Amino acid sequence: MVSSSLAIKGAIGAAVMLASATISQAFSADGINYVNYWGQNSYGAAGGAQSGWQKNLASYCEDSVEDVLVLSFLTTFFGTGNEPVIDFSNTGNGCTTFDGTALLNCPQIGQDIKTCQAKGKKIILALGGASGSYGFTSDSQASGFADTLWNTFGAGNSSTRPFGDAVIDGFDLDIEGGSATGYTAMIEQLRTHYASDSSKDYYITGAPQCPFPDAYLGDALNNAWFDFVWVQFYNNYCSVQGTFNFDTWDNWASTQAKNPNVKVYLGVPGSTSAASSGYVPYSTLTTTIDSLKSYKSFGGVMMWDASQAYGNTDVSPNYATAVSSYLHSGKSSSSGGASTSAASSTSKGSASSTGKASTTSASATSSSAAASATPSSGTPACPTAGGSCTSGYACAGSSVAICDNGKWVLTACPSSLVCTASADGSSAYCNYNTGAASTCAVSNAKKLVAGSAKVHSLSVTSSSSPKTASAIPKTKSTDAQVSYFVDTSKNTQFQASFNVRNKANKPISNKWTLTFTAPDGQQVQKSSVGKVSQKGNQVTITANRKKVPAIMEAIVVDVSGSHNGTVFQAVDPNTIDFSW
Ligand SMILES: *[C@@H]1O[C@H](CO)[C@@H](O)[C@H](O)[C@H]1NC(C)=O
Ligand SMILES: *[C@@H]1O[C@H](CO)[C@@H](O)[C@H](O)[C@H]1NC(C)=O
Repeated sequence: MVSSSLAIKGAIGAAVMLASATISQAFSADGINYVNYWGQNSYGAAGGAQSGWQKNLASYCEDSVEDVLVLSFLTTFFGTGNEPVIDFSNTGNGCTTFDGTALLNCPQIGQDIKTCQAKGKKIILALGGASGSYGFTSDSQASGFADTLWNTFGAGNSSTRPFGDAVIDGFDLDIEGGSATGYTAMIEQLRTHYASDSSKDYYITGAPQCPFPDAYLGDALNNAWFDFVWVQFYNNYCSVQGTFNFDTWDNWASTQAKNPNVKVYLGVPGSTSAASSGYVPYSTLTTTIDSLKSYKSFGGVMMWDASQAYGNTDVSPNYATAVSSYLHSGKSSSSGGASTSAASSTSKGSASSTGKASTTSASATSSSAAASATPSSGTPACPTAGGSCTSGYACAGSSVAICDNGKWVLTACPSSLVCTASADGSSAYCNYNTGAASTCAVSNAKKLVAGSAKVHSLSVTSSSSPKTASAIPKTKSTDAQVSYFVDTSKNTQFQASFNVRNKANKPISNKWTLTFTAPDGQQVQKSSVGKVSQKGNQVTITANRKKVPAIMEAIVVDVSGSHNGTVFQAVDPNTIDFSW
């Protein structure tokens, strides 16, 4: 039941009568919204002063800043028969547990949900998160779980309802681990339930990582009906000021998404301490918002998370208020405390804008599935050796094609490696097989589709003890996941990044070590954090950062260097290790 179009009832104006609001706004399904995650007290977890810790949900609904609050997270789920686990971190939410279960009972949050809804805010419950433990093994398991969700948090019936008779407005999929199985089936079943209650609108939202297609959600995003998709331009190699592929997502929205009117949001950190990468100052963000308004799919801004965005006073009175106000009015708030910093308005200037025309019909079908360069449409001919070209790189099966003086020169990748487009779409290299079929890419590097990384899970040995254990739930087997991306690899230079996602029941401490084996002839020269040393093929990056807090979610380590071959070769993911 995915075909029912979303009934857009427009703004829910009646409930929004705010005395002191300078702007009047309310959630709008087809307009522009400001969205914050709430629940994990990221500000407190990152060492912020206790006075700025996450407040109760309703206090974020007192004014006209928020349109949507996403409760994070429902951290643990494995299908029917297993109680889901929810976790809202520290903040005196007054939760207890239902007898004989680990499921939290949170009547105060239930009250707050109703308070927020009465003010026209939408309250969505997020499933997953960077450090949860979850996943389905079949569609029927996932669809059974949709019934559990509906009965536990929606308008269904259950004796264990954490929010009592409060009924949330939808579910968000922030799937960053486990398996890709079942999410389409889960959404279809949820939508069947949605259709059974005509008293209000319900939503499905998703929070993919920027690399397209998303390793876990890619399949569901193409096959299920999403209303809003907030793309995380943080904790990975993307950012507004760097590789920025909003155009790829906009193109997905209009050419591949099941819901042709799906809205794509810009997801950014609420402050420098909210994520390991991706924060942009207010003045840069407003410039970016201006340019994004030209995209048909643009739906607004999402931030991780409320505690960070309100705690961030780089702009007056705080980042959350200033950005929401700008988003809705197009004007900076009167006090104009915006930092006039570097504001390089190059938000769209990177090579990423080349991704515009490129989408792929391939979709991620398993956690490690990822597209290597694939045709943008139809079946373009494989570049052939000696065939004519104008410039750039392309893929021809497992060979990398480089345009040299108007002719393609093909170099075969070592056995079991395949040609993959670099993340910025401007070049191609030999990558460890990600499970995607090898294909011919179009004969123009500008149309290469950015490849995804092979995800490498590993267990982490650590001597550090949990600091804010409640913020990170217990995990099953692995403690971290490292994804390796090649950003660009032109001539003999390369830039790559390691994205370490914390899955452990403890923050990543300030001292950590990343090691990997570089292919022959590759020299790593620089790293964005830590110190690089290389002995032979063995590369070690160590960080010992005294002034920064331990990291709960993820670390991005950008590296650059040189190689002496004709084509660049990726690091073997099985040689990567990360410990703290
Ligand atoms: C929930 O229970 C109430 C009272 O027993 C009943 O009226 C209602 O139909 C039930 N709703 C669903 C969705 O089963
Ligand atoms: C690149 O460097 C490696 C290691 O020093 C060496 O074995 C190899 O022969 C070099 N390749 C070329 C093409 O120079």
